[in-house]
Amino acid sequence: MTNHPKNPLVLAVINQKGGVGKSTTAVNLAAALGELKKNVLVVDIDPQGNATSGFGVEKTAGSLSVYDGIINDISASEILLHTNSMNVDLLPAAIELAGAEPELATAIAREARLRDLLEPIDVNYDFVLIDCPPSLGLLTINALMAANQLLIPIQSEFYALEGLSKLLDTMRLVKVRLNQSLDIFGVVLTMFDKRTTLAKQVADEVREYFSDKVFETVIPRSVKLAEAPSYGQSVLQYASSSKGAIAYRELAKEVIKRV
Ligand SMILES: Nc1ncnc2c1ncn2[C@@H]1O[C@H](COP(=O)(O)OP(=O)(O)O)[C@@H](O)[C@H]1O
Ligand SMILES: [Mg+2]
Repeated sequence: MTNHPKNPLVLAVINQKGGVGKSTTAVNLAAALGELKKNVLVVDIDPQGNATSGFGVEKTAGSLSVYDGIINDISASEILLHTNSMNVDLLPAAIELAGAEPELATAIAREARLRDLLEPIDVNYDFVLIDCPPSLGLLTINALMAANQLLIPIQSEFYALEGLSKLLDTMRLVKVRLNQSLDIFGVVLTMFDKRTTLAKQVADEVREYFSDKVFETVIPRSVKLAEAPSYGQSVLQYASSSKGAIAYRELAKEVIKRV
């Protein structure tokens, strides 16, 4: 282990289900932590690039992405971009990442590529948030190896807990074999509609399952949160006093308290 001047908290924002609020949480939690003067790095490893476009970063042909870092050994400092959010930097995704899994399958140290990419720069940050793809493939395994802990967004809907045992099994396997420090940092309920009894039932179920890992802050369903990415802005910029912005600011405070 190298002697770091700063030990960032590296969180994998993870849930193998799509559409549960991973990218929304990565972007807006990062923006909220940045507002609180924390230095944040967002690492987008989802080929869909929703965190990348969420910060208004347009990927053009030839621009560097995480793909070049993990497959072509390009250094993170060459790939790194500043975002339009205060104190938030980004390692952007690109569609080429969709081809990374088969390429990684035959690569040396295939599970450690992302960790090795981040190692030289992570000391510059208080928080690193890795926005994971909706699968448990090699890219996600790379995130589990690079991360210290998991941040699991759970949508307040039916079947919220479905599939999570698979994620937790994968976490345990990685913990035993590759990354002993790995653990759950927190679970955040997303898209919560307080008018429905279903949402409350799901929240109770999730709190029963994950007990005090679940953040008190619940992210409400909010149109502004869904609109912000089409303007390439976090909700803190797009609709600074909206309930979604307020919720992510509250979540950021809770995250900082837990560190
Ligand atoms: N709290 C919320 N309220 C309303 N819409 C949301 C909320 N969180 C996410 N969304 C929307 O739901 C969709 C899926 O969210 P996203 O963060 O992309 O999920 P994931 O990254 O897990 O696939 C997106 O269109 C996003 O804008
Ligand atoms: Mg996503």
